Amino acid sequence: MNILVTGGTGYIGSHTVVELLNNGFDVHIVDNLSNSSVDVLDSIEKITGKKPAFNKIDLCNYGDVENVISINRFDGIIHFAAYKAVGESVEHPLMYYKNNLVSLMNVLELSDKYGIRNLVFSSSCSVYGEPDYLPVDELAPIKKAVSPYGNTKQIGEEIIHDFIHSNKYKAIALRYFNPIGAHDTALIGELPINKPNNLIPIITQTAIGKNKLSVFGNDYHTPDGTCIRDYIHVVDVAKAHLVAVDRLINGKNKSPFEIFNLGTGNGNSVLEAIQTFEKVAGVPCPYILAPRREGDVEKVFADTSLANRELGWKAELSFEEAIRSAWKWEQHLNG
Ligand code: UD1
Repeated sequence: MNILVTGGTGYIGSHTVVELLNNGFDVHIVDNLSNSSVDVLDSIEKITGKKPAFNKIDLCNYGDVENVISINRFDGIIHFAAYKAVGESVEHPLMYYKNNLVSLMNVLELSDKYGIRNLVFSSSCSVYGEPDYLPVDELAPIKKAVSPYGNTKQIGEEIIHDFIHSNKYKAIALRYFNPIGAHDTALIGELPINKPNNLIPIITQTAIGKNKLSVFGNDYHTPDGTCIRDYIHVVDVAKAHLVAVDRLINGKNKSPFEIFNLGTGNGNSVLEAIQTFEKVAGVPCPYILAPRREGDVEKVFADTSLANRELGWKAELSFEEAIRSAWKWEQHLNG
């Protein structure tokens, strides 16, 4: 089976490409390299012994997307490519709406035109906002997005829903909780071109002396006062994509548009993340307490029973393993 992976040189994309290649899929990556490096292709080849086909294109360019889709035979598409920095999306909302939504519409329209009707879409637990109940399941109401970025994920799901309603098309949206960590070879990992915004890369950068960690708020209604998230190993996230794309291609889906949470089901606080890092890495991670970050949800973690039951998928790697791999990656980057 030949899979088109958009954003395949990015963080979750590259880990998914490795899993696809290791499991006998052929892969064709398209990426505009706006937040990743072409060197990732060599790393993928080192890990898997295979180099995926690659085109540097911008998915907002309809003609470029058509050039790739029209001359290849794809069985399914995994669509990762998107901007994902929350703060940046507040400063440049149109840039986010244009990039994340025009690219999605081009992918939908052109894949349909050329008869590829299986799409896996990267969504986010941010669609739940501050959930009314925990662990949050897929039936929980969608809350008003706190950022344009989050809104592009909500609107993206709605666009897919409406498109499927009027077309013979199938899709699965995977709502990621907080993907962290890196491949155990330390050849691929999270490589933000700008300063990271996410907790785990900031912890590892702080421990290695390249950054300074502030804990955003310790007055939340949680046991230690800091926010709680469901941190999931990126390799577990990647593996779920294989199951999802295979489910679509082989018609095992139960409805044309399915949505699954991808989390571990466990919640960990910011202070627990720091303590776990210090334990597994054996080095200190100094931090200061800072005011709350605007737009942060107090606590969110997943009910994963739907994905467990329907996809036969379960997160297998522990929080400790994920943090250990993130530290190994940081050391590799600075080695
Ligand atoms: C964020 C986005 C989410 C997106 C995800 C992936 C928000 C509100 N949500 O998730 O939509 O899908 O990234 O990119 O931004 N923290 C600190 N100090 C830091 C950084 C983070 O204390 O320097 C805390 C945060 O307050 C939060 C936790 O660590 O409680 C996790 O933060 P982060 O890794 O940025 O992820 P989310 O905010 O959960």
